[in-house]
Amino acid sequence: MGVILYLECTKCGAHYSAAEPQTICPNDGGVLYARYDLANLKQHFKPALLAGRVASMWRYAEVLPEAELVSIGEGFTPMLRSREFPSVCIKDEGLNPTGSFKARGLSAAVTMAKAYGLKKLAIPSAGNAASALAAYAAAAGIEAYIFMPKDVPLANRVECETYGAHVMLVNGLISDCAKIVAERKAKDEWFDVSTLKEPFRVEGKKTMGYEVAEQLGWRLPSAIIYPTGGGVGLLGMWKAFQEMETLGWVGPERPRMVCVQSCGCAPIVKAWDEGRATAEFWPDANTLAAGLRVPKAYGDYLILDILKKSGGTAIAVTDDEIMEALNHWARVEGVFAAPEGAASLAAYRKLRASGFFAADDTVVLFNTGSGLKYLDVIEARKNRSRSGPPAVRQMGGIIGPY
Ligand SMILES: Cc1ncc(COP(=O)(O)O)c(C=O)c1O
Ligand SMILES: [Zn+2]
Repeated sequence: MGVILYLECTKCGAHYSAAEPQTICPNDGGVLYARYDLANLKQHFKPALLAGRVASMWRYAEVLPEAELVSIGEGFTPMLRSREFPSVCIKDEGLNPTGSFKARGLSAAVTMAKAYGLKKLAIPSAGNAASALAAYAAAAGIEAYIFMPKDVPLANRVECETYGAHVMLVNGLISDCAKIVAERKAKDEWFDVSTLKEPFRVEGKKTMGYEVAEQLGWRLPSAIIYPTGGGVGLLGMWKAFQEMETLGWVGPERPRMVCVQSCGCAPIVKAWDEGRATAEFWPDANTLAAGLRVPKAYGDYLILDILKKSGGTAIAVTDDEIMEALNHWARVEGVFAAPEGAASLAAYRKLRASGFFAADDTVVLFNTGSGLKYLDVIEARKNRSRSGPPAVRQMGGIIGPY
């Protein structure tokens, strides 16, 4: 298992001990990254060692925190070759526990919370992180306090309640939920597992980077398209690539990292287009892709830096384009994607049309969640866009435009 040497601030470089729970850098609020003794690991930790290991993200144990695992089968998801575009792969994160890639981050964060003896965890969430926390907290025997917008997809609320979490629905966005957690956490003795406010969710998410490399035979793709809210997976994958280079598993080449957001909430795209190093708060965020409804990413400075260093870009797609892509993927690939994941396909098409990508560029599109978690959202959208009278259901038959 991986021994963490220290936690390092991504802004000022200060070091902190991982022997006790840490949040963000007390000097400057910078995100903390776990650092391992990679130089030493390089001597014996080789890709060949992975053969036959557990088919979960914990197969990369040497570069993950050392503790008794809280695991329910997260990670090592399929890398599907696209049937439509021969050089494209779809990394299908919808097969994770709780139906989204959020399982990876929360498995790591809850593993460490349990190791630290924390009893109450709180999270502001756009939906899927809440479900994941609720499941992992249940598995760990820890209490979960969940704050999410009142209009989250139904599955997220039902899951959290079923896992036995304390669920609070908030009349607002994830940013409003975050304010409530920040105000109440000291008094209520909650440990805050908000995106990037503790160091281990990014450790779980980074395993997507290891998997991309392993599943492509230790050759990184030309590009990765990642639906971006808080951007943890993007940061995590970039961290993984750096670690793998230090381990001697990949060379200095990097995929072009592409953020896709929804036109109804695109703070990173706006900052990128304006050439800024940080993003502004996006007012009146509104999109059917609930996970992309993040008006301000805490790690914006890291996301924008990665886009620049990798020769990537940021692009916004409309909700109509997302829905069209969602239906298309289902019918052409047999993949029922979350709207956030379908945004990757919409972005890929646009970037092919603009010439940013050539037909033979190997591009990995992240489907970050399962469409099954959005049945109410998808159905409502269908009913809204369906012309003519609404469908009428009767016992013994269906009458209407089905
Ligand atoms: C399905 C899905 N995709 C993408 C995202 C955005 O993830 P991140 O905050 O890591 O950028 C979320 C966040 O809730 C999500 O639920
Ligand atoms: Zn700092």
